[in-house]
Amino acid sequence: DSHSGDFVANLAELVAIKSVSGEPEARDETIRAVHWMQKRLNAEGCTTRLVDPGLQTLPDGTRIPLPPVLLGQLGRTDPHKKTVCVYGHLDVQPAHMSDGWHTDPFTLTEKEGKLYGRGATDDKGPVLGWLHAIQAYNNTGVELPVNFKFIFEGMEESDSVGLDDVVIAEAEGANGLLADVDYICISDSNWLGATKPTLTYGLRGISYFYIDIEGAAKDLHSGAYGGGVHEAMTDLVALMNRLVDTRGRILVPGVMDAVLPLTPDEEALYRTIDFNSDEFRDIEVGARRLIHNDKVDTLTHIWRYPSLSLHGIEGAHSTPGAKTVIPGRVVGKFSIRLVPNQDPNNIERLVTDYLNQEFNKLDSPNKLKITMVTGAKPWLADPNDPNFSAGRKATKTVFGVDPDLCRDGGSIPITLTFQSATGKSVLLINMGASDDGPHSQNEKINKWNYIEVTKVFAAYLYELARMGEN
Ligand code: BES
Ligand code: MN
Ligand code: MN
Repeated sequence: DSHSGDFVANLAELVAIKSVSGEPEARDETIRAVHWMQKRLNAEGCTTRLVDPGLQTLPDGTRIPLPPVLLGQLGRTDPHKKTVCVYGHLDVQPAHMSDGWHTDPFTLTEKEGKLYGRGATDDKGPVLGWLHAIQAYNNTGVELPVNFKFIFEGMEESDSVGLDDVVIAEAEGANGLLADVDYICISDSNWLGATKPTLTYGLRGISYFYIDIEGAAKDLHSGAYGGGVHEAMTDLVALMNRLVDTRGRILVPGVMDAVLPLTPDEEALYRTIDFNSDEFRDIEVGARRLIHNDKVDTLTHIWRYPSLSLHGIEGAHSTPGAKTVIPGRVVGKFSIRLVPNQDPNNIERLVTDYLNQEFNKLDSPNKLKITMVTGAKPWLADPNDPNFSAGRKATKTVFGVDPDLCRDGGSIPITLTFQSATGKSVLLINMGASDDGPHSQNEKINKWNYIEVTKVFAAYLYELARMGEN
């Protein structure tokens, strides 16, 4: 508590680094965020290494360096202690004042106990939570009861390009960082409300697609040419309209086949979760009505059933004003959130076959190209293992209540790789509140969450060491 000012100052410094992994021109800043974190960890006595995952090939063919992966540990490995590895990401989503931010997204701004800034909750606040937790052990002269290791990266918001190979190599090599790890912990998701802490045991995967349609060789005047040409945009809208209906039902044949049926036990579990649909609708979403009235239906549809979202159309007229244009080439973007036992490769085949078949029905002379640009598998864990017990006890110590055990609808691509490469348990401890607005305008983290959950991290390290005692 007495260092909370320093913790906020650190967050302000890190938020000021514009580490937008999706913007190639921000790559230097993304790399700088990794170096910044390395310096801080070194100052706490950590040994660190940077692993170069190589180059990234951009859609236009140019190649730029990927940010290094930062890994290391605090002190020497003590064979009598359990070993935990934490993961987080230092990159952020894009943010511009013109998106509707009330304050500069890269200047951390405190207002009424809220810290506004891009990355405050996703994921710079949580990553700093680990630094501050070990700092607290160091400064109080308490020996850490576990071996503490970490992997922090700078490409998560862009599908963690290059990280899979690094994690697998560290898990398989006899001297790899993950060779002797017992537990893995990630803090990169949020509570289900504003007051009750949660732990997460499942995430959806994602398949992200581009539908590229090339019509005329250039944009055309719609008065001079409209009526005489097959418009790329008309083809695209026809295809996008065949993906999902207005009640959220996915129209691609076969996509739902692998989805496991909801068991009565699962349904009962969802019934017990503290979740207020009205607040969710009014405060978080800000809409008049949701697709489902029932709490369990809403939770299952955002956590354990797939969903298909239409994201945008590149090349389409999208600025204010009435421009009379026929866009020559357009790229439609959509993604499907995946759940057990869906597999991105299978989804890619189903979607590609279906769109090609629907396109043939249009009898269009235009050129169609479908690409899956991201494919990440879903992840589901057993929330009854010692890792989760430690998380539960730590939460109870700090907040005085048991956390709700939740699944979540977002994706952290590396989670499943950690689990399958090491065979160890992965726990997600959530730091931010549900209304933090990751990826949105005015992203924030409550100072209370930031400080209190840092205490949970410290307590978790302590509880891990006690697992298997008693
Ligand atoms: N922290 C989020 C993941 C997340 C979001 C978990 C919401 C739980 C709830 C992460 O930074 C993220 O945004 N992931 C991307 C991954 C994608 C780019 C492959 C996502 O989910 O869209
Ligand atoms: Mn994140
Ligand atoms: Mn994110």
